Amino acid sequence: MIQFRNLLRVLVFWATLIVINCTSYNNYAIYKVIPETKNQLEFLKSLHEKFDFWKESRQIGLPSDVMVAPQDQQEFENMLNRNNLQYEVVINNVETIIQKQKVETLLTRSSLGLGDVTFNSFMYYSEQMAYVRRVAEDYPDKASVETIGQSYEGTDILLLKISSGPSETSTPKPMIFIDAGIHCREWIAPPVALYIIQQLVENTTNAALIENVDWAIAPNVNPDGYSYTQTTNRLWRKNRRLAEGDACYGIDLNRNFGYMWMFDGASNYSCDQTYAGPSSFSEPESRAIRDWILPNKDNIKLYLTFHSYGEMILYPWGYAPIYTENADDLQRVGELAAEAIESSSTINSNYTVANSAIFLYPAAGASDDWAVGEAEIKLSYTVELPNGDAPYYFMIPARQILPVVQETFQGVQAFHKYIEEEFWTTNSASRMRKFIN
Ligand code: ARG
Ligand code: ZN
Repeated sequence: MIQFRNLLRVLVFWATLIVINCTSYNNYAIYKVIPETKNQLEFLKSLHEKFDFWKESRQIGLPSDVMVAPQDQQEFENMLNRNNLQYEVVINNVETIIQKQKVETLLTRSSLGLGDVTFNSFMYYSEQMAYVRRVAEDYPDKASVETIGQSYEGTDILLLKISSGPSETSTPKPMIFIDAGIHCREWIAPPVALYIIQQLVENTTNAALIENVDWAIAPNVNPDGYSYTQTTNRLWRKNRRLAEGDACYGIDLNRNFGYMWMFDGASNYSCDQTYAGPSSFSEPESRAIRDWILPNKDNIKLYLTFHSYGEMILYPWGYAPIYTENADDLQRVGELAAEAIESSSTINSNYTVANSAIFLYPAAGASDDWAVGEAEIKLSYTVELPNGDAPYYFMIPARQILPVVQETFQGVQAFHKYIEEEFWTTNSASRMRKFIN
């Protein structure tokens, strides 16, 4: 019976694929390119606009993953050869991994009850939000749902606030803010946020995690883009607005935040993957995050934004290769999280903790920089999640959602531990001690 239903799903899926005009990545290739000199690195950087860099190398010896359309492959290879760049075609048909993930997702989809969550398959946006609402309904004493804004297409963006109650002392509880899904093709990010919600609210053995620290979690902040990746174009990264006078749809929300906007590593051309938008905070999705954080900024001690992929815990500044004054803390706390993840990993995750512009590449207008620069949240990280135990890129198989969300939750607990120790003191004596020190 189950078998038959799954078979039916796959058939319906193929049928709709033929009917709906899906963007196909047939014969698109992924090149792994490793620069060995400074010039080669610079040359690679000059291609950033023209090609879809899934992963960008900023350091000699570190690979870039670049997707290239079939009609551009000859030219691309010629250019690499002319610059003596080492490369390898790691995937010769991106469409096959897209289809693999889709079929596996359909096969693993058992019928979800309204308000249920699953980590065995990828959910629709409506299902994710139904879960958020259900948690708030079932646990009114610790969870409440807030609509923080609407996407361009008018879909509500939800945030779940988790708190065991008001602080009994005069010090308000420190808060951890988490968002996921800014880049909608990075499908593994929203499940990570949903798993954190489930563990904090529904798993009573984790009660201590919400005792002295409040949480605000927005599990999927780019609903238009996310739905678009499920129906039409699996590799869509931006939101779905066509700004006035622009040639192409979509603004990269992670270039649209208003701190050092457009300084570097962002494009002013709408057809580019890193289009920063017509102005900072031109997009309703980035404004929704801003407008919730600002009134709460004094309580928020940690900002975490989940992306994929790359197994990196990145910290500001990202707009330019500059360290913040608390870079040592950022590095140390990031390493605590990385160690917690790695020591529990069942998929061999191996994280790098680093300043994002120095290790990776400068990119201005990202949410992590804004959190520090404007909201004055001193601890701010972009977490680039793993892509599975093999390079599946954005197309991580459904069966690997669970190992990723579980190990990442270990890292989140390490972050929590630090926040609690640093910002929550139960009695005035220890607060005094801190003050004297
Ligand atoms: N992959 C992310 C992006 O390109 C990294 C952002 C890191 N943060 C930064 N401020 N550059 O959007
Ligand atoms: Zn991203």
